[in-house]
Amino acid sequence: MADSTDPQSQQPQLSEAQIAVHWREENTLPPPPPFIAQANAAEAEIIERFSEAHFPDCFTEYADLLTWDRRWDQVLDTSNPPFWKWFTGGRLNACFNCVDRHLATSGNKAAFIWVPEPEDQLTQVITYQELYRRVNEFAVLLEDFCGLKAGDRVTFHLPMVPELPVAMLACARLGVIHSEVFGGFSGTACGDRIADSGSRVLVTMDGYYRGGSLVDHKVKADEALLAAEKHGQEVDKVLVFRRRPGQYASASPMVEGRDFFVDELLPQYRGRTVKPVSMPAEAPLFLMYTSGTTGRPKGCQHSTGGYLAYVAGTAKYHLDIHPEDTYWCAADIGWITGHSYIVYGPLALGTTSVLYEGVPTYPDPGRCWRIAERLGVNIFHTAPTTIRMLRKLGPEEPRRYDYRFKLMTTVGEPIEPEVWRWYHDEVGKGEAVIVDTWWMTETGGFLGTTLPALQPMKPGSCGPGALGILPVIYDEDGNTVEAGSGKAGNICIRNPWPGVLQTVWGQPERFVDIYYAKYNRNRDSKDWHDWPFLCGDGAVQAADGYFRILGRIDDVINVAGHRLGTKELESAALTVPEVAEAAAVPAIDEVRGRAVEMYVALQPGLAASEEIRHSVAAAIEREIGKIARPAHIWIVPDMPKTRSGKIMRRVIAGISNFADVGDTSTLANPEIVDDIRHRVQSDKIAAGHVPRVLTPEETQEIQEFGKAE
Ligand code: PRX
Repeated sequence: MADSTDPQSQQPQLSEAQIAVHWREENTLPPPPPFIAQANAAEAEIIERFSEAHFPDCFTEYADLLTWDRRWDQVLDTSNPPFWKWFTGGRLNACFNCVDRHLATSGNKAAFIWVPEPEDQLTQVITYQELYRRVNEFAVLLEDFCGLKAGDRVTFHLPMVPELPVAMLACARLGVIHSEVFGGFSGTACGDRIADSGSRVLVTMDGYYRGGSLVDHKVKADEALLAAEKHGQEVDKVLVFRRRPGQYASASPMVEGRDFFVDELLPQYRGRTVKPVSMPAEAPLFLMYTSGTTGRPKGCQHSTGGYLAYVAGTAKYHLDIHPEDTYWCAADIGWITGHSYIVYGPLALGTTSVLYEGVPTYPDPGRCWRIAERLGVNIFHTAPTTIRMLRKLGPEEPRRYDYRFKLMTTVGEPIEPEVWRWYHDEVGKGEAVIVDTWWMTETGGFLGTTLPALQPMKPGSCGPGALGILPVIYDEDGNTVEAGSGKAGNICIRNPWPGVLQTVWGQPERFVDIYYAKYNRNRDSKDWHDWPFLCGDGAVQAADGYFRILGRIDDVINVAGHRLGTKELESAALTVPEVAEAAAVPAIDEVRGRAVEMYVALQPGLAASEEIRHSVAAAIEREIGKIARPAHIWIVPDMPKTRSGKIMRRVIAGISNFADVGDTSTLANPEIVDDIRHRVQSDKIAAGHVPRVLTPEETQEIQEFGKAE
């Protein structure tokens, strides 16, 4: 029931988007002066240059960071909305821009410094010159041995090894469209994507190190091919890199005539080069599949010219990457963050990037800081989930290491202000500027974030629109939700931008439906103003113009007509000092529709107690209101997490609702699921709860809860 003291409950018939967000405003922090002194974007005038009045021409400033074979005729072609075309008439090659053009001045500078997970294995430095060699040899192999040509698709299922960017750039050199499937995904997931993209070649690796063991990865290739075949897709060749050349790490047999060790093939291509193929700006560069929806996988298609310009520009101004920086993005290249901000953006700018193979806390929570110290990393890019994990396992660990970050990022989910402050004070030692970068697979690059020298930081808020991005919040009816109103709604981008996906591979209608149909004003209009892009997130905008992202639209728990952002609930729980991690999920509730169940994991060494449970309940009540009080607070030893470290809320929601938890095989810690299920469900039954069979709609909701993450 709604609490009658809550002002929202006195307004009948509120639409979802109108419901107030219970969020405490945080104070802003100015950027540190030494950072400002060296920043790429240091003059406020850049904000005016990228204002609406200068759209779309402002983005030529990003395109001018690249080397073009032919300059574009038109900046933005809107003749077939919403299939925008950027820099039409222009031609370029992405690999040339990321590799060849740096050779003359920086050939022997490190492009990548690869850190294997086992600490006794040597760090590999790959200079731009060596990258050029490796990319060319692999490109010739793809062309000669596999018969690939511009426009063909090839699927990679590769872990965090230098072979992955080498393979991406080799494709880009030929105009072949790459589709990397995150290494932690199952073979079946990979096979579905092979089929959807129509790839006849799979590039994989025999194994890789993760959490201290050498994981058998090639076995997934066999599963992938079976799955692809079920969809009618034949794969001719499987190229297998060996993690330790000459030594095979997999138990899966090599299939004669189909599977080939790359290290055995490469010697015949030694020293061979291939000319970068001059591609039209709007030619697809790669596909990146998203896991956010049901049904067929959704292959987000990104362009060559627009995408590369956008990631180079945003990396320069928002990440403040200079060629002389040592930059470490601890994401996996298997996700969009890695494509944009490990490979294409930083290489286009000619910087040095650190690649790390393994788990950030392996073999101990000091690992990241040792890497930063040894390699002189000065820009550190990571996700809240990693920050939480590092905070949980080694809260004082950063103090022991002598590194200095000038800039740190957070990306991928909203960050709780508590966690933000630890990141700032401990990891950044109070000296680093933080940029919270909000965006998604579909958008190629940042949408909401600050210009680090010009706009102050605000814990838990990503900031205003990125340069040239015009965000707006709409309610369900398409009315603008005003800044400072305290109301949440659906965040959209009013204008096209060069990094936006071109289409969903093979599903153009779905592309229009998912991203544009909701707020399109006129299907026949060729005016971009009529085609706002639906991002799929709920958000609230403060009076100062900063956005707070509340999570995917489907990540909201609606309790008695009140929309509660899971992140707000979790952030409240995290204000309790004993709590290290928190996840809120919906439980089907016969009276209130949905109730909140809160799962928390404690700081190391602490035991579960009634006091802690009470503190969490009190914190939520205090921070948000009675309405948000969880029906249950479960203290668990750990959260079920993906390999990339995201908490799997759908698994927890399944447990809370006595529903099927779905596939847990891709989790980093599948064993925790039974443990939590046992604790939670036996407690509930002992308390008299009688589970009922869920309706198909309820089952779907639970199984999809948090899936967008
Ligand atoms: O809900 C938003 C959240 O992650 C979603 C996009 O996920 P994905 O496509 O996997 O891309 C992740 C890397 C860009 C968004 O819809 N998200 C991403 N960044 C942030 C965020 N939520 C809050 N703050 C962010 N900085």
